[in-house]
Amino acid sequence: MKRVTLTRFLIDEQYNRSAVPADLRLLIEVVSRAIKAISINVGKGALAGILGEHAAAAGDASVNVQGEAQKKLDVIANEILLEANEWGGHLAAMASEEMEGPHAIPHRYPKGEYLLLFDPLDGSSNIDVNVSVGTIFSVLKCPEGAEPNRQPTEKDFLQPGSKQLCAGFAVYGPSTLLVLTLGSGVHAFTLDRELGSFVLTHENIRIPEDTKEFAINMSNMRFWEPPVKRYVEEMLAGKTGPLGKDYNMRWIASMVADVFRILTRGGIFMYPRDNKDPSKPGRLRLMYEANPMAMIVEQAGGAATTGRERILDVQPTGLHQRVAVILGSKNEVDRVTGYHS
Ligand code: AHG
Ligand code: MN
Ligand code: MN
Repeated sequence: MKRVTLTRFLIDEQYNRSAVPADLRLLIEVVSRAIKAISINVGKGALAGILGEHAAAAGDASVNVQGEAQKKLDVIANEILLEANEWGGHLAAMASEEMEGPHAIPHRYPKGEYLLLFDPLDGSSNIDVNVSVGTIFSVLKCPEGAEPNRQPTEKDFLQPGSKQLCAGFAVYGPSTLLVLTLGSGVHAFTLDRELGSFVLTHENIRIPEDTKEFAINMSNMRFWEPPVKRYVEEMLAGKTGPLGKDYNMRWIASMVADVFRILTRGGIFMYPRDNKDPSKPGRLRLMYEANPMAMIVEQAGGAATTGRERILDVQPTGLHQRVAVILGSKNEVDRVTGYHS
């Protein structure tokens, strides 16, 4: 079998139809190196003493900007990504789930024209129970390009997902996977742990248009809006209901693992809007969870909406804004989106 590494894939147009500019290619290489480092840390688990909550200086458990408890690995993964990308030379700034505002590139390092956004560790609640977690990232162009004397602000990041140049995610599971799109299809690479390189193992992934599998946190049922309640009730009715087929349910509570399953065999994933906390129109964050996943799912032939509109068309208003997410097999996403209108 011919081995196509990520490096070769990015250069060789035989595999990758979008001629990738050199600086974007090198940026992806840097991100993939950080992902390897995170994978090694995740894999050590309790041996490295890195499970559990992150303790703030005072010894209390620390919370991030969104009021969520930070795990030690959330903080470690964030630091690995920051450190690796600070001196890479391709970025104007970075933004992360774990930091309130944009992270500037230190003056002593060269800068580039891209903005990198990430969820350093997705599925943190699964770390301590040894279930798959991951990293999600998104690349945008900085509106004013690489201006040496201007630090990008939050406003520079607030571009709709349709402007993403690249999106990807890693899954730290039985094997470590890197899923990537540059706007012409979706490809996945498996980490060869001996050689330390990502090898192309899933070329041109396509999501089946129909499915019999759904993913939703059913414990929130009483908070859902009527269209989602109707759809889930119809799926639960199975063969005897209007959809005429029996469905299966899976909920890993790591979006990276749920989305990779959907890329592999189809399915629909929903974290819909609910009235649990009216100040939050959804649980997942637009800029570094919903947008990159929506780009990947669309590039694989699936669909991604908020129930009301295409996720990639949402005009962002804040770095950490939350959004309803319905994504996966096209015909099912279209059906439940239709129920909203
Ligand atoms: P994070 O760990 O980055 O905060 O994200 C977790 C997300 C997502 O991965 C998952 O689909 C969802 O939260 C799980 O939510 P529940 O705990 O409500 O099931
Ligand atoms: Mn997350
Ligand atoms: Mn996270």
